Formats: sequence, C-alpha cells, structure tokens
Amino acid sequence: MLRFLTAGESHGPALVGILEGMPSGVMVSVPFIDDELARRQKGYGRGRRMAIEQDKAELLSGIRNGKTLGSPIALLIKNKDWTINSLPPVTRPRPGHADLAGAIKYSHTDVRNVLERASARETAMRVAIGAICKQLIKEFGIEVISHVIAIGPIKADTSGLSFKRIKDLASKSNISCADPKAERMMIKAIDDATIDKDSLGGVFEVIAKGCPIGLGSYAHYDRRLDGRLAQAIMSIQAIKAVEIGSGIESAYKRGSEVHDEIFYKKNRGFFHKTNRAGGIEGGMTNGEDIILHCFMKPIATLGSPLSSVDIISRKPFKAAVERSDICAVPAAAVVGEAQVAFELGEALGEKFGGDSLIEMKRNYNSYEHHISRVYGYR
Ligand SMILES: Cc1cc2nc3c(=O)[nH]c(=O)nc-3n(C[C@H](O)[C@H](O)[C@H](O)COP(=O)(O)O)c2cc1C
Repeated sequence: MLRFLTAGESHGPALVGILEGMPSGVMVSVPFIDDELARRQKGYGRGRRMAIEQDKAELLSGIRNGKTLGSPIALLIKNKDWTINSLPPVTRPRPGHADLAGAIKYSHTDVRNVLERASARETAMRVAIGAICKQLIKEFGIEVISHVIAIGPIKADTSGLSFKRIKDLASKSNISCADPKAERMMIKAIDDATIDKDSLGGVFEVIAKGCPIGLGSYAHYDRRLDGRLAQAIMSIQAIKAVEIGSGIESAYKRGSEVHDEIFYKKNRGFFHKTNRAGGIEGGMTNGEDIILHCFMKPIATLGSPLSSVDIISRKPFKAAVERSDICAVPAAAVVGEAQVAFELGEALGEKFGGDSLIEMKRNYNSYEHHISRVYGYR
C-alpha cells in the first residue's frame, strides 16, 4: 500500500514528508523533483513569496545511489523565510480560510496556530512526493499532465488538440494554458483583478495517459478509482469541485448523447471513439485517457479586504491586507498532477503489487499478455 504523510508549518523551519510502500528499484531523479517544485512556484498571478522560496527537496532516506530501497522515503524542503516564532499573533479570522473554524475546533485564540498549517505551502511536499510517484508510474508507460482551461470567466479552447500538443503548449505558457489567445485574455483578467484589489479562481484539467485497463474496482465503494481521484483532488486547498470526463454536462443530456460506444479492431482490441466518461467506467480505468476537471475558487485573501470579527474583542474589522497570490490556478494544477500520480501509483500497486519494481513489472506483463491473448489486445 502506497501512502504518505506531510508535516510542517508555512513559516516553520521546513516541510517534511514520508512516502511509504514504494517498491524497490525505482530510479528517482532529484533534479526532476526540483523541476516539479519549480513548476508549482511559477504561473502568472502568484505572490512575492514564490520569489523567496525556490524550493529544493532533500532525500533523507529510502533511496540509495538513485534508486528506491523499498523502505520509507523521507523528504525535507527547507523554508527560506522561517519566521514562525517571531510572527505576531493573529486574532482576526479571514473569510474563506480555515481561520475561524480551525481556531474554535483546536481551541486557539491565536489564529496563526491554524493558518500556518492550513496554508497551501504544504502542497510543495505533495508535489515532491507526486514527483517520485510520477517516476514509478512512468515505468508502466503512464504520464500525467495538466493545463489551465479557465481563469475566472475566460475559457480556453483546446478541443481537437492531442495530449502531446497540449503538453507542449502548456509548458511554454506563462499560465499553463494551451490556447495562446485565451492565455492573453487570462493574463489581462489577472492584471485587472490586481488593479481592482481582487482575486480569481479557475479550472484546470489533469490528463493521465497510458493507464492499463482495470485500475480501481467496482466491487466496493472505497475501491472505486473515480471516488479516490475526486477525494485526492478535493483535498487540495481551494478546490471546490471535480468533474470526471464530461460528467457535469452529461447530467443535462440524454443517454444517447453521452455514453461512449464500444468498437473492436484486430491488433487494437476494444476501444471507444469518444471519451466522455473520462477514462473511467464502473470505478475502473477503461484504457482511455483519464480526464479530470478541477474547479478552484478565487483566492480568499483580498487587496480590498472583506469584513470579519475579531476573536478576542468581538469587534468587526476589515481583514488585514497581506501578501498573497491573486490567482494560483497554474500552481494548483501541478499539485493536481501530483495527487493523481500518487493515486495511480497506489492503484498500480494494488493491481500488480510487489515489493520490487521487477516483481510489479512481472505481474503487469503477465496481465498484459493475458488480456492480449484472451481479449485480442495488442
Ligand atoms: C497552490 C495554491 C496556492 C494558494 N495561495 C493562496 C494565497 O496566496 N492566498 C490565499 O488566501 N489562499 C491561497 N490558496 C488557497 C487557500 O490555501 C485556501 O483557500 C484556504 O486554505 C482555505 O481552504 P479551502 O479553500 O479549501 O476551504 C492557495 C491554494 C493553492 C492550491
């Protein structure tokens, strides 16, 4: 079983992560992890802290000479602006944050004790762990990418673009958008929101290519891959909805317009010509690309602050203006990729489980051989 834990406060000395259950023998590149961390820090609309941080991961255990040992992998990402002990107390909970409910739940009158951990700074560690998972799933031909498909009301049109084209265009874009025309309008929308002391959310798409048929299961509620992916994405700060394939639109249509018909070709096996299901049927991968749309609310810390009430004095006030992102959708997309890579690593481990990569690959190859022989796949 693959699982991970993270620890660390936003302005504490470091973020810490433990990834357990990785098979032995997986090549892990630290520069790749750092590249992924750098991707999370980029994106038009991010605040000043991103310029300070420049995250780097240190691997403390579980890897020797560049390969996993099968033992727990411990990671460390140091915070450069480590000031937690000298920061003043906060008694004014910010609307749209964990501040008020968290203070009451954990019995704090200093809201800083809540916001330091609730902050999305923690997602840096998720990205580092996801980068290791990406290196595992790559061994099985699976690749996970993301791109921004909306910022506020501005929507990208990427219909008809291949996986490779989306990946290339998004990687060159300042805002991870594969539609250059929409990208310009998105940047303008962020500039306008900045002038208006406001913020923006948006939508990103995560695509996973190369999944074998049959990851996840219909047999039990908690084994359904759609449910697990949705939970993984919903766990990212500020994500408020997830759509699999064209799930939302399909609710307003007739069945004949929605479901993906099945075809068969010798040397190709069974396939669908459309992928409105987003690669998952009955809680299992069906061999098509997994497609997730992830909806992020606008950043809650605003240049023109909203009203709230002081926890101690009970007096109303306008929330303090703090440095903050105006829009963090491109960064959240990188976190989304990490969460999906982790879930797919876990699902691969369940289906082809083994303590070493060699063992997992043996099980995987034997399954592929079986389905090609019995069901006529390539
Ligand atoms: C990558 C990323 C960066 C974020 N940056 C900020 C930020 O700079 N300021 C802010 O107020 N919220 C930011 N958020 C969102 C908050 O962390 C989130 O809204 C808050 O913790 C409350 O959680 P909830 O929105 O899930 O209820 C960011 C989220 C992500 C995923």
